[in-house]
Amino acid sequence: MFNQHITQEKMLLKLIAAATFLSSFSIAAKSAELPQGEALELVETHCVACHTISRISQSLGYSREDWQALTESMIDLSGAPEQRDSIINYLEKNYPPNTNRIPTIIKGEVNISFQEWVVPTLGQRSRDPVAAADGSIWWAGQWGNLIGQINPVTNEMREYPLPPGSMPHSVTIDVNDNVWYTGNKNATIGKLNPQTGKIVVYDMPDSSARDPHTAVFDANGILWFTLQHANQIGRLDPQTGDIKLVSLPTAGSRPYGIKIDASGHPWVACNGHNCLIKVDPVTMSLGEIELPHKDTKVRRLDIASNGMIWYVNSSRGRLGRYNPQTGKIDEWPTPSGSRSHPYAIAVVDGAIWFNESGMRPDPLVRFDTKSETFQSWEIPSGGFYAGIVRHMRPTRDGDLLIHQSATNRIIKVKINKPAIDTSLK
Ligand code: HEC
Repeated sequence: MFNQHITQEKMLLKLIAAATFLSSFSIAAKSAELPQGEALELVETHCVACHTISRISQSLGYSREDWQALTESMIDLSGAPEQRDSIINYLEKNYPPNTNRIPTIIKGEVNISFQEWVVPTLGQRSRDPVAAADGSIWWAGQWGNLIGQINPVTNEMREYPLPPGSMPHSVTIDVNDNVWYTGNKNATIGKLNPQTGKIVVYDMPDSSARDPHTAVFDANGILWFTLQHANQIGRLDPQTGDIKLVSLPTAGSRPYGIKIDASGHPWVACNGHNCLIKVDPVTMSLGEIELPHKDTKVRRLDIASNGMIWYVNSSRGRLGRYNPQTGKIDEWPTPSGSRSHPYAIAVVDGAIWFNESGMRPDPLVRFDTKSETFQSWEIPSGGFYAGIVRHMRPTRDGDLLIHQSATNRIIKVKINKPAIDTSLK
């Protein structure tokens, strides 16, 4: 019992230490906005290590049981039961369920089911699951400074600690099943060999290249990646370790999601400017495509088998399609509208899938390109709803991998194929 207590305290300290890099802005945002109450001080002590306290006031609000389950996915307070109970009492009293950001859910004919895994290290911001050829699922535990692997057959999980300060934003897999992560806080790209557990670290060649973000391999085995705040796109050749970087034409474009088209050109979404970027894979010269409306910001994109570039217009709550042959751009308002902040996107099963991260619950949305209609579902975390999908990718057999960053969940969406024709338009 005593030992267990010590371990839990140690774990708590470790987590808080892992998250201190965030605490400067968290403390600044400690707010008078939370209602006074005996336990406010406790909340301010325990709940700002990883994120601002405004997460609480902006949340869906919960019953006692759900506040308990939600906080238990972030922090273990079982070593201090009185403090824990005061915090839960406070949250239950001041933040019961609300409808402040309730999504518009659209029913339809497609059936899906969710399979969830709760990952081990608490509050790690589990995200960006990706399937390897052997069927295992890898994820990034950004705030836990780790990457992890799930065996979906046995449900076994293993977490690999990364070199200090890496804070991986994403993971992707090469043809030899090595797992590559982007060291978002220490300006590195890393390669884990799961057979040996060995990690090879590649430093950025330029000090301005501070934040590798999302990465993807092309068919020649070249790793392409974005650096959001550095406003750069990078290219890493795993054969030589050589890294080349190029800056975006417009300052503050914040390159974010990245995908490769069938002819080997990387395409990048701009999260700070109304643009998409097409990269010449040989010269690394960049073509900027201007999207409609100056307030447009795009987190991510995906490319359909017919060559269409699909993107989320995150800032304006729209789904977009760019036709690279004709230059034509179409946009559709998402079901939950302008505040829905669509975030992750993937083309799967002949349809477009994305989520509405501005809503609570965060819905998963499917867009049928032929009928131009939407269908959506609330994404569960066990018995309740919390968190955001920040990146989604298909499995090799046509299902979809998502996650909920607040509840330590990696989730597989099993898509039961519809009887209707969903061929791409
Ligand atoms: C060890 C890190 C950590 C600690 C400590 C922590 N959280 Fe979190 N929390 C997270 C992560 C990770 C997220 C998801 C953030 C994201 O995706 O940007 C989150 C998100 C949230 C959300 C938003 C849920 C939603 O709607 O998406 C709420 C509410 C929340 N936390 C409450 C709390 C409370 C209350 C405490 C203190 C008892 C706490 N957190 C302590 C890691 C932590």
